[in-house]
Amino acid sequence: MTKVVLNFKTYAEATGLAALELSRICEKAAEQYDVEMVVAPQTADIRLISENVSIPVYAQHVDGVGFGGFTGSITAASVKAAGASGTLINHSERRLKLAEIEASLSACRAEGLLTIVCTNNIATTRAAAALKPDFVAVEPPELIGSGIPVSKADPEVVTGSVEAVKKIEPGVGVLCGAGISRGEDLLAALELGSVGVLLASGIIKAKDQKKALEDLLSGIRG
Ligand code: G3P
Repeated sequence: MTKVVLNFKTYAEATGLAALELSRICEKAAEQYDVEMVVAPQTADIRLISENVSIPVYAQHVDGVGFGGFTGSITAASVKAAGASGTLINHSERRLKLAEIEASLSACRAEGLLTIVCTNNIATTRAAAALKPDFVAVEPPELIGSGIPVSKADPEVVTGSVEAVKKIEPGVGVLCGAGISRGEDLLAALELGSVGVLLASGIIKAKDQKKALEDLLSGIRG
């Protein structure tokens, strides 16, 4: 099933009660279309959302630390307890060192959280796949928030990532993101071999979030 992950980042339109409202819109859309809709709100909003909607809620980041003296860290155990079932790791706006990605992955595995490691090109996709996350999500940073879809502006980074992952760890799913907002962008991403998309501003900053989400998903109605 196509996976559509909506990253709430720190947008005002997707914080606190607005995050809950948007998650409800996503929940309804997931019922209406043949799609797995995932929301990734800020850490402090995970519990509110997971207690009120039935779709998967992911964290935006998890640190590779356990219990103890790690002030300010986000642990896999805490996001799991708050109701998250997965997390983004190494998002372009929250880059980690390779060893930190590995530590985060291992903390998430210990808690049974699904993992999406974000990458910026084919080479980093290759490196990320070797760490065996559940998914990699390739996002060219220059297209993030641009409204120019990766599936059209840089299709080679998607097909190249899909091919690279097939050779290294075929069990890892490939998502792509950056500039995705319309149904045709999502369809193009799927045609390039990705199993879904990671997106944000095209929906969150839209005047009508519900309409924008429906436009995105309309091409894949089940
Ligand atoms: O995590 C998704 C993201 O970085 C892409 O952002 O606004 O281009 O959809 P956007």
